[in-house]
Amino acid sequence: TLTAVIMAGGKGERFWPKSRTNLPKQFLNISGNKSMIQQTVSRLEKLISIEQIFVVTNELYAELIHAQIPNLPLDNIIIEPIGRNTAPCVGVASIIIEEKFPDSTMIVLPSDHIVENEERFVNILNTAAMVCEHDSDSLVTLGITPNYPETGYGYIESTQNRLNINDMNVFQVNQFVEKPNLEKAKEYLAAGNYYWNSGIFIWKINTIRRYIKKFMPEMNDLLETMKVAFKSNNINQVIRSEFPKMPDQSIDYGIMEKAEKIFVIPCIFGWDDVGSWTALERINDKDSNGNVIKGNILSIDTKDSIIESNGKLIATLGIENLIIIDTEDVTLICAKDRAQEIKSIIKELREHK
Ligand code: GDD
Ligand code: MG
Repeated sequence: TLTAVIMAGGKGERFWPKSRTNLPKQFLNISGNKSMIQQTVSRLEKLISIEQIFVVTNELYAELIHAQIPNLPLDNIIIEPIGRNTAPCVGVASIIIEEKFPDSTMIVLPSDHIVENEERFVNILNTAAMVCEHDSDSLVTLGITPNYPETGYGYIESTQNRLNINDMNVFQVNQFVEKPNLEKAKEYLAAGNYYWNSGIFIWKINTIRRYIKKFMPEMNDLLETMKVAFKSNNINQVIRSEFPKMPDQSIDYGIMEKAEKIFVIPCIFGWDDVGSWTALERINDKDSNGNVIKGNILSIDTKDSIIESNGKLIATLGIENLIIIDTEDVTLICAKDRAQEIKSIIKELREHK
């Protein structure tokens, strides 16, 4: 059996001010006419049924998930009382899925990415599941060929050792490095045998449980305690009381950097993690001046900008390389090359308002 865990507890801060604490990026229509998480679910439904799909999210968003994905069984929404990054999210999902679908192979994926070619996506996930059958110690990653030294991604160093499964090349991994510094990222890019981690993982439930026990023993003890408590208590109540004790750790730092047996499947399926406003330039059509424009906008001598109105007319004259986003209560005006720093505005607002 195949199961899927959608990680949907992130705050999407780099998409501020459209993405807000009470309505982060995964619930917005950034591309197309469905929200990012709705697109993620419908992509997965090409492979498995809705009963096999689980969503892990913060309690702030549980109702939003139900509203946006009404056919998802309520029991498949796993609710965290507090964000503890992705390792606890995967850990809790693994013990819940273990009860319902023992021995299943689990796909772990973000809620807010774009995949253009769904057929290839499904095909690659099937291949990844076959790798897990072939070698039950394996953690399978989907790798993207890098084209610039991004420091916000994990890097996967592949070796020459490969399997050919389902007519695809599957490479054994030498090391997984989460978010290297710029110098390292440049080195990896030049080396030619590194991939970006897409953030999509495939493994057998028993396998990830073994790795958690080995590399995050304290978290494992908590998971064992929770498993016992599930037998006589309401699952969400157990999570509410035990989850805050979890370490704040990502699966990338907690497990992937340490694990011995990782495989990578190089993927070309039109992946984009829509990490910041500038992603809109990759996923949308630009006008003849290189602008990505949405809504009520009058632009004269305006170049290479990203402009989104919320109804009110935005008029621009003689500008370039700006991001202008108008929402009901906030207007953002930001230099395009500083889009990654939008988080600092939120930090400032938290501290001073
Ligand atoms: N349930 C839950 N709880 N989900 C979470 C939490 C949490 O506390 N924190 C983050 N998520 C969700 C986010 O909503 C997102 O869908 C996914 O987990 C990944 O988290 P990010 O915060 O977006 O991670 P990242 O972008 O810094 O890095 C990861 O993704 C990159 C590719 O986009 C890593 O896996 C990198 O190695 C990878 O390259
Ligand atoms: Mg991300």
